[in-house]
Amino acid sequence: MKLLNVLMKDVTHKIEYYSRFSPSPMSIKQFLDFGRENACEKTSYMFLRKELPVRLANTMREVTLLPGKLLNQPSVQLVQSWYSQSFEELLDYENRNPEDPRTLKDFLDVLIQIRKRHNDVVPTMAQGVIEYKEKFGFDPYFSSNVQYFLDRFYTSRISFRMLINQHTLLFSDDINHGYPKHIGGIDPACNVVEVVNDAYVTAKMLCEQYYMMAPDLHIQEFNCKNPDKPIQVVYVPSHLFHMLFELFKNSMRATVELHENNTEGLPPVKAQVTLGKEDLSIKISDCGGGVPMRKIDRLFNYMYSTAPKPMLNPSQNAAPLAGFGYGLPISRLYARYFQGDLCLYSVEGLGTHAVIYLKALSSESFERLPVFNKSAWRHYQLGPEADDWSNPSSDPRDASTFKTR
Ligand SMILES: Nc1ncnc2c1ncn2[C@@H]1O[C@H](COP(=O)(O)OP(=O)(O)OP(=O)(O)O)[C@@H](O)[C@H]1O
Ligand SMILES: [Mg+2]
Repeated sequence: MKLLNVLMKDVTHKIEYYSRFSPSPMSIKQFLDFGRENACEKTSYMFLRKELPVRLANTMREVTLLPGKLLNQPSVQLVQSWYSQSFEELLDYENRNPEDPRTLKDFLDVLIQIRKRHNDVVPTMAQGVIEYKEKFGFDPYFSSNVQYFLDRFYTSRISFRMLINQHTLLFSDDINHGYPKHIGGIDPACNVVEVVNDAYVTAKMLCEQYYMMAPDLHIQEFNCKNPDKPIQVVYVPSHLFHMLFELFKNSMRATVELHENNTEGLPPVKAQVTLGKEDLSIKISDCGGGVPMRKIDRLFNYMYSTAPKPMLNPSQNAAPLAGFGYGLPISRLYARYFQGDLCLYSVEGLGTHAVIYLKALSSESFERLPVFNKSAWRHYQLGPEADDWSNPSSDPRDASTFKTR
């Protein structure tokens, strides 16, 4: 028991130690240059054995600022236990000799194990929020804190996996057979229209399974730099696919639900891929009836979901993601992770434009990472503040009564 206490104290001390460092953001160009020039496994190991604990510790410290009642939910505790275990496993490498080939081999295995352990972090954390909501309900103050936290927590996870994927893809024995030209998970010449098409075809298959029909896709490409050339970007194709797949699913669902009984068939979904000097923008437009302006912000909120509660099998740690209403918020995190964004512009009654903005230059695509510091800490301490704009009465008849403060 005594030994266990000592060990736990030591780990807590280490979390505190590593959380004092800020994560070091990498640009896509840096990832690429490192992977291209005879990537050195030892150098990568030396970087990761500190950077991974730093990113984990920053996140783990921030988790503890969540309200106690949320922290006590079984799913949140499960996620915390995964983080602790992975952090401890990484600590084993603090002093291991990089010259010993066994060190590098073991490190690679540990990274693969960690990645697997964290596979279900998003749905499990989502489950924790649902558990809390069911027991205690939620208010706007709590919701805004959870929103702030989850955006940062999931971004940190995306970044953590990016680092692990780069190392394991570059240095494991299985060569990236499907994609020999990729550098780790990065495609140095990612053909954007091809990814748009892949995402569309995959979403279409799902849509047809569910609704027995799906809208067509019309693609336009505007390359303002080289008008005759297809648009290419240095990017992580799996991230781009993820965002586009989510947008297509949403557009298809809205289109089918509004027009399924139309005799003229379904209006197509349109994709415009445009490369400017600074931005590479991908606009997905549909005629699915749109969303009222009042609700747009809410669509990115983790606490707000109109979807029915997903069924979970308590014997499994995993939980299904579909239906959590996480499509848009997580896609926006992917876009923002490399300094881009994802915005929704809707015209209620008509349809929606969703725009993914990416940086056209890989040297400008730096990781956008959460840092655990005083400002972050303060964010969780502030109490709910009185609104400094007038609030319309929910019932117009109440307007006859004067309100006092
Ligand atoms: N193109 C669109 N047209 C109309 N409504 C949309 C569109 N895109 C999103 N929405 C609305 O926003 C909500 C949230 O979208 P989001 O993709 O985040 O979650 P979801 O589709 O409900 O669930 P999932 O996690 O499976 O994606 C949708 O349920 C839908 O009501
Ligand atoms: Mg969706």
